[in-house]
Amino acid sequence: MPHYQKRGKIPHKRHTQFKKPKGGLYSEQLVSTEGFHSVSSLIYHCHPPTLVKMIDEPIDVTPKIAQQKNMQHRCYKGFSIQPVEDYLKSRVPVLVNNDVHIVLAAPQKSTKGYFYKNSDADEVIFVHEGTGIMKSVFGELKFGYGDYIVIPRGTIYQMEFATKNNRLFIVESFSPVVYPKRYRNEFGQLMENSPYCERDIRAPQNLTTTDRKGDFLVYIKKQGLLYPYHYAAHPFDAIGWDGNHYPYIFSIHDFEPITGRVHQPPPVHQTFEAHNFVICSFVPRKYDYHPLSIPAPYHHSNVDSDEVLYYVDGDFMSRKHVERGMITLHPIGIPHGPHPGTVEKSIGKEETKELAVMVDTFKPLSLTVDAKKIEDGSYYLSWLDSSTSRKFHQKTDIE
Ligand SMILES: [Fe+2]
Repeated sequence: MPHYQKRGKIPHKRHTQFKKPKGGLYSEQLVSTEGFHSVSSLIYHCHPPTLVKMIDEPIDVTPKIAQQKNMQHRCYKGFSIQPVEDYLKSRVPVLVNNDVHIVLAAPQKSTKGYFYKNSDADEVIFVHEGTGIMKSVFGELKFGYGDYIVIPRGTIYQMEFATKNNRLFIVESFSPVVYPKRYRNEFGQLMENSPYCERDIRAPQNLTTTDRKGDFLVYIKKQGLLYPYHYAAHPFDAIGWDGNHYPYIFSIHDFEPITGRVHQPPPVHQTFEAHNFVICSFVPRKYDYHPLSIPAPYHHSNVDSDEVLYYVDGDFMSRKHVERGMITLHPIGIPHGPHPGTVEKSIGKEETKELAVMVDTFKPLSLTVDAKKIEDGSYYLSWLDSSTSRKFHQKTDIE
């Protein structure tokens, strides 16, 4: 729920005549994710956003479910997802439910020949590797390592990569993604105790008005189908816009960790929230400073959420079996916690360099066929001590 922004030219009063220099009116469009009562923006187009020329046959991209119900700790090697040239084809859903789809992608090329719009879901694209520019009617967002690109549903966009090796961790949310309510005051401003503030939010820049007629292909995603829409006007034809609804970037590197004398619970890492799930950031931080503190987390029974951890970077590289891009899933119903030996090992350590993204879903996740292909099947046995067949060792100091 970003703060007010204005780009380009807009009329003095909303919903009034806004004349083009050579005659005619600009077309006003209200965009929001929840009716007319939530945050919104007004966009002024050179052409009406309704000029449909043709619709091709839709393409089915519904996630293929391998296992609908899960009651086992899981581990996936996210970097085993194969790079694919095309951005949309590269997107591989791995864990899904009715509230959220967790998607991995390793696109190699920019979306030059088409545009994309997700009409069902807000998208949070965490950039693990790669740089580039996300373009939309609102302007440009330059992205790089550690950025969360938050794209409200209904936003037509293109990804222009400057790099060939790109790794994205994408969260598709079927409800609006917002700043946690407890970080906001009654006026919507981020409060002093929030781990980030408005200065950390990067809004679109360099608004370019592309006033062009022709044939412009927009893949519109709805209910698992991609509809190839052909429009007669370029989608990025805004002369101006203003409001609180727009794509933005928040970098995980700008998340200020909250620490304490003793171990702090996962909610201190919360970054975004949506209906029935939250996104948290685990960032480099000083450890607990009570003289008898145990930096490693305690065991906990997540009886109300499936916990998904995506390992980004940090000193876990020096440890066995935790890789960049790895995902662990600790499902509702069974406890999890530190691996044997890691509690004792953590005592006396002063800081962690780990970087990770967590998605806690309040409803169980289903496992896709593609997730099964990259699974390390022995993970659920990894809490057995070394006297037994502990092939897998590793739980880092993250929850
Ligand atoms: Fe946990």
